[in-house]
Amino acid sequence: MRILHLSDTHLDRFDGPNKHGVNATQSLRRMLADLAAVRDIDVVVVSGDVADDGSPEAYGAAREIVGEFASARNVPVLYSTGNHDERGAFTKILGSGHLDPSGNDRADSVIATGRGERAAVSVIDGYRFITLDSLVPEKGYGWISEEQLTWLRGVLEEPAPHGTVLVFHHPPITLDVEVQRSLGLRNPADLADAIRGSDVQLILCGHFHLQIFGYLESSAVWVTPGVVSRIDLTAPARTERAVRGASATLVQLGTPTSPMFHTLHARDPQVGETVYELDEPQLRAVIEKLGQES
Ligand SMILES: [Fe+2]
Repeated sequence: MRILHLSDTHLDRFDGPNKHGVNATQSLRRMLADLAAVRDIDVVVVSGDVADDGSPEAYGAAREIVGEFASARNVPVLYSTGNHDERGAFTKILGSGHLDPSGNDRADSVIATGRGERAAVSVIDGYRFITLDSLVPEKGYGWISEEQLTWLRGVLEEPAPHGTVLVFHHPPITLDVEVQRSLGLRNPADLADAIRGSDVQLILCGHFHLQIFGYLESSAVWVTPGVVSRIDLTAPARTERAVRGASATLVQLGTPTSPMFHTLHARDPQVGETVYELDEPQLRAVIEKLGQES
């Protein structure tokens, strides 16, 4: 099983430069164009912040651009929601988020909650993929609701032939930096409880726009860098710098040394150029605005 893991495409309703001067649509197109020669992909996963503006047009662009890549390879695409996504528009255009190579909804089962959360299951070649919805409207941090965790426990009661992969936006692991602690998944212990003793072998996330590997219980956790921009910890402490350079991950499962992760970088002539820099007060303001529980 080879997964192409994309995240944080941050598409807008228009195909042009965003407020930071990055054309998100072009960034996605460039990433996928540079993946043209990558073969044997079995599924494409997009772990949230599909849209930057939550518009139906942005989901339509994702559906068209990622869908074209997937249909040429005859593989499904699984989307999950992120903090920038809007559940109504997401659902209108992407349904459960699980699409077959022709763009039809292919989820084996979905959750229905009063808040319209998007969580769904698809078994692909014996691997069970479960997308969860960690979006908290108006906030930057993530939370997986008790309803979803109860549903997840029920789904996991029966193991899948080759194990389970969870996909959601907000990482349940963080490096020891405040912005990640404040804006990551706020209830990782609840998720750890829900997957303990289950066949979950891998968790795929995005959100931080950088790659991290760690564990939650006995499951590997991979955070893939962003398609729209890349962040790392080379900026001075308590500040943040995003640079150009669309990236993605090829994930290999099912071999004796799996899971394995290979980060792929688009050949962007502007790679490494600064997209934005937040100084200490600016980053503090972001954390206060988006990290405060209401
Ligand atoms: Fe995000």
